[in-house]
Amino acid sequence: MLKGRHLIDIMDFSTEELDEIFELANEIISGEEKFSQVCRGKLLATLFYEPSTRTRLSFESAMMRLGGKVIGFSDARSSSVSKGESIADTIRVIGCYADIAAMRHPKEGAPKIASMYSPIPVINAGDGGHQHPTQTLADLLTIKSIKGTMFNLKIGCCGDLKFGRTVHSLIKAMSRYEGNSFTLISPKELKIPDYVKKELDNKNVEYSETSNLENVIDSLDILYMTRVQKERFFNEEDYVRLKDSYILDREKMSRAKEDMIVLHPLPRVNEISYEIDRDPRACYFKQVKYGMYVRMALMMKLLGIQ
Ligand code: CP
Repeated sequence: MLKGRHLIDIMDFSTEELDEIFELANEIISGEEKFSQVCRGKLLATLFYEPSTRTRLSFESAMMRLGGKVIGFSDARSSSVSKGESIADTIRVIGCYADIAAMRHPKEGAPKIASMYSPIPVINAGDGGHQHPTQTLADLLTIKSIKGTMFNLKIGCCGDLKFGRTVHSLIKAMSRYEGNSFTLISPKELKIPDYVKKELDNKNVEYSETSNLENVIDSLDILYMTRVQKERFFNEEDYVRLKDSYILDREKMSRAKEDMIVLHPLPRVNEISYEIDRDPRACYFKQVKYGMYVRMALMMKLLGIQ
């Protein structure tokens, strides 16, 4: 039963509950018109303390496409946070106005704190370098729809694996499905955090680490590219040195399998060359669309709408 629940970490939901969400998302994809009024009278609050294009606008368009309405802010300076109001008080107030809230915050754990005080479901829309569970819902639905399975896949994660919260959530989620293995491709300064590796070790999930994309691209079923997260660096010099560590171009793609898919949570900076967009294996814009449908399904489930 997902009604009334929060989504803070992708592990909050069982794989069966994730399947329920994907099933509903697929129903919406095949007949969106039927769902155009199911959230009539419902209000979503988007509380974005950090910039966003996709996540905020996909939540907002998802609610509007379901017939509901949206309130919120996209800049914390325009809310009473700037006067010193706590997350706990903010969410208690928002809970008096809205039926469900999506929160993005630069501090790890902020949406979790909100959920502890909230009278309405809280969805983590990205917390610092920690987790981004609804991006993972989009990633999983894309993989399931395009690859036809979520099992026995070789998944390459490439780029900023240290600060890239989407990768942390994706690895956690995909390691629950039998037979998946991970190739973690990053410069040594941006390696995956130890806590993520520990979880893989605990579950006996196969993984390897390398800094060389060319050497491993031919073995992958999925290549998940990420940008170097400029906003989480302490100094500009390190960012400039590392930002172009990987650029996926035609030459590298020529080594990849014919049915490998390229995913990216976006925004992209330089890490995927624009020439790749025409390659049928480039699936990152499809991923964006799946992201909206899966957020429609998620909100319906948390609101208990049949
Ligand atoms: N994928 C993602 O989180 O994009 P935004 O930062 O634009 O929301």
